[in-house]
Amino acid sequence: MKQKWWQEIVMYQIYPRSFQDSNGDGIGDIPGIISRLDYLQKLGIGGIWLSPVYQSPNDDNGYDISDYESIMTEFGTMADMERLISEADKRGIKIIMDLVVNHTSDEHPWFVEARQSKNSKTHDYYVWRDEPNDIESIFSGSAWQFDETAGQYYLHLFSKKQPDLNWENEKLRQAIYDMMNFWIGKGISGFRMDVIDLISKLPDQKILGNGPHLHDYLKEMNQATFGGKDLMTVGETWGATPEIAKQYSNPANNELSMVFQFEHIALDEVLGQTKWDLRDLNVPELKQVLTKWQTELGNEGWNSLFWNNHDLPRIVSRWGNDMTYRVESAKMFAILLHLMKGTPYIYQGEEIGMTNKPISDVSEIDDIESINIYNERLAQGYSKEEIIRSINAKGRDNARTPIQWSADDNAGFTSGRSWLSVNPNYKVINVEEALKDKNSIFYTYQKLIQLRKDNPLIIWGDYELLDTADNIFAYTRSYQGEKWLVVANFSEEENEFEGVFRELITHNYPDKPQKVLRPYEAFVAKMGDDENE
Ligand code: NOJ
Repeated sequence: MKQKWWQEIVMYQIYPRSFQDSNGDGIGDIPGIISRLDYLQKLGIGGIWLSPVYQSPNDDNGYDISDYESIMTEFGTMADMERLISEADKRGIKIIMDLVVNHTSDEHPWFVEARQSKNSKTHDYYVWRDEPNDIESIFSGSAWQFDETAGQYYLHLFSKKQPDLNWENEKLRQAIYDMMNFWIGKGISGFRMDVIDLISKLPDQKILGNGPHLHDYLKEMNQATFGGKDLMTVGETWGATPEIAKQYSNPANNELSMVFQFEHIALDEVLGQTKWDLRDLNVPELKQVLTKWQTELGNEGWNSLFWNNHDLPRIVSRWGNDMTYRVESAKMFAILLHLMKGTPYIYQGEEIGMTNKPISDVSEIDDIESINIYNERLAQGYSKEEIIRSINAKGRDNARTPIQWSADDNAGFTSGRSWLSVNPNYKVINVEEALKDKNSIFYTYQKLIQLRKDNPLIIWGDYELLDTADNIFAYTRSYQGEKWLVVANFSEEENEFEGVFRELITHNYPDKPQKVLRPYEAFVAKMGDDENE
């Protein structure tokens, strides 16, 4: 595989609404992001995945786009966006835009026109049927909505205000490619592609993901837009297996650089049910899944590595301990992931160990997905307590509370009234504190990012899982005669690990690791030439 810049960097995801407000309206914005670029440079990241900043009525916080070529008023102007691209570039940071083209907003001019009549110019840009079938929306209820004016049902796999685009229409595809080229012309470095595995579908046969033309469309898109331009692309693909991931990311196929797979993310839901149906994580299962992804792509594909994003609960609350062992467990997750093969993604606030924010009543929820599941499950007879328990565990607002910059009012996020309440733990957990404390989670991330820059072994080395106690996750990376050991006690119990190593590289406890690993203890070490080979 020829080496690419996106294989060597660590990415950082910004959810602009919650990152930094600069004008006191309670909503994060682009000038706010610019003001924090020095902080991100200090962390050491090489690229930002920017969640959508386009014009949107915000039914789904920007994932419902009404104009792809203008900036959301609350976030700033196109001039601000251009400034962000150039200011980031000055600091060696690339900007990756979110590309949301499975659907638009119902307020996008294409849809406004499409619903006027069956004969309108853009009617066929969307998916219409005279009769609905029983496909369900990912955001609850039927995926079909009757439109009075058009006299037909349109498909919406997400909210009613997110009608699905019909990728079979060639003109639509061309319009999307033109829009992508508009952004490439602005100097961005690539795209994160929202639910890209849903774009080719056969709703009558209930085939929604991995449809028949998916890979043809991506090859066509590649040729018409980013192909040959040294940009990076990452597809959000909930249905990917390693085989499918290779199809997308094998350079010979000219599709995408990499995809986000979600197999590990589903390990704490009841098999065959939804994310709201909770079960405990089984660590051996996690080891098996992540190891499969580490080993099976080989040289025919590339991994992306993540625990968090704007749709997922905070990892330290989810699978760690966000009270007694918050610092230890947050560092353990960082060490375990950042020594793996692939491009790591940090989600804003992860680098200071931000936690979930539990609620006790539906009135505290902002997110459409959680509100809908609340109402749906209430109607199905679930108790309020049970639904709130699921929402506290998996609801998307957990990841969307404002970034905790300092112990000032509203955590330094805004001088106004924040659109979503700040997590009350901001007085203790915030960036200012983290920067002052040389043992903070922030500096563990900074060190891991630097290690990746200095050691090709982390980028290219072979991965091998070690046979250990169930709750110990240990593996080696080997490259050009060198071998590193990564060990993580994925539990708050003590666990034994017997390993010999030569030089400790990083560790989340202050002293040397012994045979008995303490709660969430994790370390990276160089192995001797002749030991455990
Ligand atoms: C996936 C995005 O990550 C999520 O936030 C959004 O709601 C859906 N796609 C629909 O765009």
